[in-house]
Amino acid sequence: MRVSRSTLAAVAAVAVASASFLASRTLVSALAAATPAQAAQPAPPPPPPHTMNAPINLKVLPRNLTGEQVHEIMEGWEGELGTSCKTCHVEDPKNLAPNGRPRLNFADDSKPEKQTARKMFMMVQDINKNYIAKIDSSGAPVTCGTCHRGHLGPEPFAAAPEKEHDHDH
Ligand code: HEC
Ligand code: HEC
Repeated sequence: MRVSRSTLAAVAAVAVASASFLASRTLVSALAAATPAQAAQPAPPPPPPHTMNAPINLKVLPRNLTGEQVHEIMEGWEGELGTSCKTCHVEDPKNLAPNGRPRLNFADDSKPEKQTARKMFMMVQDINKNYIAKIDSSGAPVTCGTCHRGHLGPEPFAAAPEKEHDHDH
């Protein structure tokens, strides 16, 4: 399955990134310890690690996905629909980010677009499992982007101007 393969790649990339992050942090603190001028100053608190919460309200995606895996899928949908997280996720006025802007409440189900996206996901699974998998094809599955092509509402299709008929009426 494409998701799991790319997810594995992403998990590996995250692991490499955090390993080098840790390595550079270790280097930085080793340097700080070795430099008396800097050692005198209190070290700034380390930035919080960029962890993503485990999902708590999955109804169509596999429940055992990690926060990172869900995030990767969401970024895929965002790109395929040419939209942003806010299209489907509601702002939480009680949860403000340091810049004063409300954070999104990802588990909340109140946006109709989120409900639509769940139906769309079920539809795509059905298309791939029950139709695409049963034909002799390139094996390329249908994705959100197959129809949406970077737009929230799929663009109406305009056929090329009519050519000569290859048959008589
Ligand atoms: C097209 C609509 C859509 C867009 C755009 C979208 N999401 Fe989602 N998101 C969903 C749906 C639907 C679910 C629930 C999936 C399910 O029920 O299995 C979800 C679930 C989540 C969850 C899990 C919440 C929980 O605790 O259950 C997170 C986190 C999340 N989205 C983050 C994001 C981020 C970050 C972005 C932008 C990069 C984003 N989403 C963009 C539709 C969307
Ligand atoms: C087979 C074609 C097709 C695929 C594949 C598809 N969609 Fe759609 N989607 C549509 C069509 C057509 C509409 C517009 C329906 C309408 O006009 O009301 C739509 C509408 C939507 C909307 C509502 C847009 C709005 O304006 O409110 C969302 C959200 C959405 N799709 C998400 C997704 C996601 C997420 C995926 C992949 C998991 C997906 N779609 C896959 C055809 C598709």
